[in-house]
Amino acid sequence: MNYERLIDQILTDGYGVADNFLTLAETTALANQLHHRQADGQFRQAGTGNENAAATIDTQTRGDDIAWLYTPTATTEETAFLARISDFMDYLNQTCYLGLRDCEFHYASYAIGTFYKRHLDRFKTDSRRKLSVICYLNPDWHSDDGGQLALYLSDNQSNERTQLIEPLGGRLVCFESDRLEHAVLPATRERLSLTGWLRTG
Ligand code: OGA
Ligand code: MN
Repeated sequence: MNYERLIDQILTDGYGVADNFLTLAETTALANQLHHRQADGQFRQAGTGNENAAATIDTQTRGDDIAWLYTPTATTEETAFLARISDFMDYLNQTCYLGLRDCEFHYASYAIGTFYKRHLDRFKTDSRRKLSVICYLNPDWHSDDGGQLALYLSDNQSNERTQLIEPLGGRLVCFESDRLEHAVLPATRERLSLTGWLRTG
């Protein structure tokens, strides 16, 4: 994995995209694992709002179902995924001195037609989330399936430009959690990912 290129992109464009962060076999294994946990009743409707307050369920803001990954109960493929993320964090710490110390990841499943409106990831009361990382688990995704990640980028003149990114299986997207507003557009297929945050503590 060429982390250098990914980090250069994040620094110059405000976001980075790495295709084939996961192989097709890894993507499929994690998608199967997601479905296994889903069938086992481990998913909950995602909430919005403050980490310290009770989450609000509002499907007109956010319609995905999520299940958090926990190291003690992680399967072999999940442990391998977290190890790869840990490598990426080490590389970021060595090259950018970000002081990343921890990460948190959840599976996300967007049923057909669901979406996540424009938002920023970092909680107002929690500055530990430095980087948002999304890894898509959708093999054979086509552009007419929808479900793009919309990034609202601004240039030096503070003009806004929307960059759409397709949720292709194995693709990783990374951006600064407190800076970049983004949204998930509705899809005509179930849309799967592992989404998380690299944190300073
Ligand atoms: C999120 C989010 C983007 C995506 O979960 O906070 O913005 O492409 N996800 O799934
Ligand atoms: Mn987000």
